[in-house]
Amino acid sequence: MLTEVTATRYVTPLREGGSLPGIVEADDLGTYVMKFTGAGQGRKTLVAEVVCGELARRLGLRVPELVTIQLDPVIGLAEPDQEVQELLKASGGLNLGMDYLPGSIGFDPLAYEVDPAEAGRVVWFDALINNVDRSWRNPNMLVWHGDLWLIDHGATMIWQHNWPTARSASAKPYNASDHVLAPFGPDVAAAAAELAPLVTEELLTEVAAEVPAEWLVDEPGFESTEALRRAYVDALLPRAATIHDRITLGAPTRDRPSQAPGWLADRLAPQPHASGRDEQGEQGEQAGQDKQAERPEKDGGK
Ligand SMILES: Nc1ncnc2c1ncn2[C@@H]1O[C@H](COP(=O)(O)OP(=O)(O)O)[C@@H](O)[C@H]1O
Ligand SMILES: [Mg+2]
Repeated sequence: MLTEVTATRYVTPLREGGSLPGIVEADDLGTYVMKFTGAGQGRKTLVAEVVCGELARRLGLRVPELVTIQLDPVIGLAEPDQEVQELLKASGGLNLGMDYLPGSIGFDPLAYEVDPAEAGRVVWFDALINNVDRSWRNPNMLVWHGDLWLIDHGATMIWQHNWPTARSASAKPYNASDHVLAPFGPDVAAAAAELAPLVTEELLTEVAAEVPAEWLVDEPGFESTEALRRAYVDALLPRAATIHDRITLGAPTRDRPSQAPGWLADRLAPQPHASGRDEQGEQGEQAGQDKQAERPEKDGGK
């Protein structure tokens, strides 16, 4: 069971993503990024966050702690933004919280190096859950204390939106050519060998059990919340065993605009690509400097 806390203060909205999550404080003195049941994307987004986030954690990937948050919409009464007011009003009851990582920064593929083993684990995991939301445009990863953390698993498991076709949908391949870690030479075969055997029926049953029942009730075609939990297990279990053969990786390229804020881009020289590191001496450094010089000035060099 996820820990349940109660929201005590709505601090501020987060506008980078699409779902308008908010930062809230809670009665355990924690600070959380809150995802609302009343958001347009609906409660299935929250189910995906729990199933995939808790699965990632059990596979050894870093995901901030997830909790459920009781919300009384009165805490947002002083909130001037109409959109936020509406969201809070529509979200009374149980919502999802993710531990807020203070000082973390959005992952930038030009500013941080990821080794092929770690890149492989993330790409393989995203293929398993069919994550369409880890592209260079929208990495949904944070760097915190020098480590990579995975966030935002709402846009995954597309099959949960049409259960009658779930079996064939979950058997489909995964195109990772747009994945933000594709340029790092992800060792998907090693990741599959390490992680696929861990994705057992027991493990999947355990993560499906973490989803609050109230986000599962009244799903058409299911007699009980337990039957619906079982459907998540049944979709992921066969996929874990075979997906590594059906992952498409594009040609490695880093010709993408940096998303780092100007102050960071100025300080961090991009690392040479891992596969070319050995043969790069001064030349490699020069190439790195050239690349940095090509960076678009995002905030006028402030
Ligand atoms: N645990 C966290 N700690 C710090 N910042 C976070 C955390 N989770 C999300 N964020 C910030 O909030 C933004 C939106 O969160 P995200 O989960 O991606 O929501 P959305 O579904 O709207 O894309 C992220 O891009 C990131 O900048
Ligand atoms: Mg996001």
